[in-house]
Amino acid sequence: MNTDVKSGEGTPRDRYAVIGNPVAHSKSPFIHARFAEQTGEPVDYTRLLAPVDAFVPHVRAFIEAGGRGMNVTVPFKLEAHALADTLSPRAAAAGAVNTLSFREDGIHGDNTDGIGLVRDIEVNLGVVLKGARILLLGAGGAARGVVLPMLDRLPQTLTIVNRTSAKADELVAQFAAAAREAGCRLTGGGAGAIEPHTYDVIVNATASSLDAALPECDAAAFGADTLAYDMMYGAQPTVFMRHAQALGARAADGLGMLVEQAAESFYIWRGVRPDGAPVLAALRAMMKTPAA
Ligand code: ATR
Repeated sequence: MNTDVKSGEGTPRDRYAVIGNPVAHSKSPFIHARFAEQTGEPVDYTRLLAPVDAFVPHVRAFIEAGGRGMNVTVPFKLEAHALADTLSPRAAAAGAVNTLSFREDGIHGDNTDGIGLVRDIEVNLGVVLKGARILLLGAGGAARGVVLPMLDRLPQTLTIVNRTSAKADELVAQFAAAAREAGCRLTGGGAGAIEPHTYDVIVNATASSLDAALPECDAAAFGADTLAYDMMYGAQPTVFMRHAQALGARAADGLGMLVEQAAESFYIWRGVRPDGAPVLAALRAMMKTPAA
């Protein structure tokens, strides 16, 4: 594993990394390098490939070598949750951790995925979630991670729909109290739970785009004022995005969520909030340019 200190103009830099398996494709080192330039923070951010059965020893070795924090990606988010000594409320609710901070009093776990989605929708895409009618497709880890940050924005309704309806029911039960507190009507189930109106925001949190499939979703849920957001991203629009556009909706992919979850991690570690928009634009341009 590579935990060497890189010295920028002779100044020792604080070490961070993204840990995963695989991790070679991760855009996080690029994003955090741009954030460090933008803010002037002395951050060195690398990739760390851990064998699937050796997450904890790799984290411990990184801490021993002076590491200050880590982003955690597939397949280690649940192990990171178990490893943390303390958890933020949103990480506890998500049951998964994507941001570890190594502090004097122990390992702190947070989850910035949900706030990353919310900030991309509100700040980058300009859609207000307060009072909105939101449809969340999926009830796996990705969906669970975004429910609390969405409720924090006080939407009018949140409908959680999943192929396996029992998993949507479980999420509705888990977040019932938080929804009541937020004054939000939280419902869910199978495709039949979709209400007979267009939604303001539809988020695809299923893994369906990975196999170019479309989650079951009534066409009447999409309208001209709907933002259809796929948490996946790629060089081309996903099947879900194309479907939404064909129905007259506005579509967005999850690249902005990736940048914004990184910005929130950076903020947790450094106390400085970088501007995600120029980094998102740079990433978008890179993805449009075929690799040489
Ligand atoms: P993640 O952490 O990405 O959420 P996960 O916990 O395995 O991964 O959850 C995957 C989600 O995508 C689930 O909601 C799953 O639906 P089921 O609970 O019915 O399995 C959903 N999903 C995956 N492929 C899908 C498809 N082709 N159509 C609809 N939903 C799909």
